[in-house]
Amino acid sequence: SWTPDNFVDMTVAELKEKVGKEKVVLGLSGGVDSTVAAVLLNKAIGNQLHCIFVNNGLLRKNEFQSVLDQYEGMGLNVKGVDASARFLDALAGISDPEEKRKTIGRVFIEVFDDESHKIEDAKWLGQGTIYPDVIESISVNGPSATIKSHHNVGGLPDFMKLKVVEPLRMLFKDEVRRVGASMGIDPELLGRHPFPGPGLAIRILGDITPEKVSILQEVDSVFINGLKSWGLYDSVWQAGAILLPVNSVGVMGDERTYEKCVALRAVESTDGMTADWVHLPYDFLQKMSNEIINKVKGVNRVVYDISSKPPATIEWE
Ligand code: XMP
Repeated sequence: SWTPDNFVDMTVAELKEKVGKEKVVLGLSGGVDSTVAAVLLNKAIGNQLHCIFVNNGLLRKNEFQSVLDQYEGMGLNVKGVDASARFLDALAGISDPEEKRKTIGRVFIEVFDDESHKIEDAKWLGQGTIYPDVIESISVNGPSATIKSHHNVGGLPDFMKLKVVEPLRMLFKDEVRRVGASMGIDPELLGRHPFPGPGLAIRILGDITPEKVSILQEVDSVFINGLKSWGLYDSVWQAGAILLPVNSVGVMGDERTYEKCVALRAVESTDGMTADWVHLPYDFLQKMSNEIINKVKGVNRVVYDISSKPPATIEWE
């Protein structure tokens, strides 16, 4: 019968056989799938695995450094590439959601291609593709999604000509988590909410500036840390904050303010296809609202999104 331990033993043996002495390049996203795929490959072929973790400048606050440290602590051969400026420059002035996605996808491919060229004589591209991705051929998470949705654009970049190795191809998400746990991956990492590949870009409505990114990172960080400290994080499927392209009037002391409004969103779901808004406790929401407005300069109003999917979507863009 299927057990995570058996799966790990069998897969490690298969990977050794398949890859031999050759090198594998793999893009880490900070998400569960790419991490579990990397740890499996690392078990099989050690430092023949070369991981690349790209900072697109649209991750959560401090996420790039803390996840990179975590990867290094797990013994992964990983290179962190801070390409924030390249992404934010390319995004300047773009407001259309699909344009944002295309731009991020294109820049990701450029950065990943540059980095993979530095790994001499790589023969394989490792990917964290899981069974539902295989069926839909659209992944909702991470670099693999970006890569796939750009298969048909012009000539293929070199890394896409590599042989593909996808150790999680036959697994469902809960099985991936169990496999990860059986290899000793931090439960906190395995329990992380899904996070879209384009990151905060699609939670900043309108055009993206470094200042807006940092405002949203602060708001998001108050909200996510609040969910954790109130013991609500694990009962929510996905949560985050949205920076609205709206200023509203407020008062601060004797002063009239005219500042930004943010929306908080938390949903329950099993696969993201449908979702219900979470009935978070009023006293929690009150606390979050106070903390955000007090701490985050430039924000004077907080609203909570009470729309379910369908007819709304989880993201606002
Ligand atoms: P929606 O907004 O369509 O989101 O209800 C469903 C799930 O997909 C995620 N999402 C994305 N993930 N690239 C991704 O990797 C994207 O462009 C993208 N758009 C939405 C969203 O966070 C939710 O989990």
